[in-house]
Amino acid sequence: MPQNHFESPAPQAEDDPSPASDSSTGQSSRDGDVLIEAQGLGRHYDEGNVDALADASFCIRTGHYVAIVGKSGSGKTTLLNLIGGLDRPTRGALIYGGRPMDARSDLDHHRSRNVGFVFQSYYLLPNLTAAENVQVPMFEADYTAAERSARAKALLDQVGLSGRESHMPSQLSGGEAQRVAIARALANAPELILADEPTGALDSETGDSILSLLEDLNRTQAITLVVVTHDEAVAARADQQLRLADGHLVRP
Ligand SMILES: Nc1ncnc2c1ncn2[C@@H]1O[C@H](COP(=O)(O)OP(=O)(O)OP(=O)(O)O)[C@@H](O)[C@H]1O
Ligand SMILES: [Mg+2]
Repeated sequence: MPQNHFESPAPQAEDDPSPASDSSTGQSSRDGDVLIEAQGLGRHYDEGNVDALADASFCIRTGHYVAIVGKSGSGKTTLLNLIGGLDRPTRGALIYGGRPMDARSDLDHHRSRNVGFVFQSYYLLPNLTAAENVQVPMFEADYTAAERSARAKALLDQVGLSGRESHMPSQLSGGEAQRVAIARALANAPELILADEPTGALDSETGDSILSLLEDLNRTQAITLVVVTHDEAVAARADQQLRLADGHLVRP
């Protein structure tokens, strides 16, 4: 077991590597250090008196591919937002890179430098070109204007969007818009990508290509990837599943 596997009444989540690392693929990134540790994590909403998440304890290892699965309303987005520091838990603790998140005074900085977010509805800024959208997070880092521009172009190339730099979001297909959002998530070379149903607005073929792109980034660049998905086939490919039912982690 991982060295910091901790006691919890029922070890609900799988934090041991799954078959992927049992195979002899030689993927050392599959066995990285613990990047994120949740200790009895909970999120209560006073509005409606909802325990959206209760007593969630698990580890995520550096370089792993993690799928969060569960029915609508089971707490998937709640959990992803806590992992990404977009929201704060009402119970328990989240340790990121060995540091408790709630002790960080630089949460905005941490998010913009270490974490890339991808959402179902892209959230591109409509008045900026594709390249400008990709550059937005770079303003939080120390890039010069020339570096921002070159980097945005390289990232758009990487996601298969050469020649679309000057397109406005309204001139992009859904799949292209999501690729721009992925390039934007990569803007500051994050160690973690969090994706909330990234294929939810796309047809299945386009969705598959978006998932392949994310999985490729995980495999080739060892970027830790956490994806919320309804797709059991996707969940089965992940190194680890965090399966939620009514706010509780259950065995995969
Ligand atoms: N801001 C909020 N205020 C009150 N209740 C909320 C809030 N956000 C979420 N909830 C409740 O928390 C529960 C979990 O919501 P969450 O969005 O995490 O579910 P989900 O698994 O992502 O669902 P879906 O698959 O539909 O996106 C739901 O019952 C929801 O109504
Ligand atoms: Mg959701």
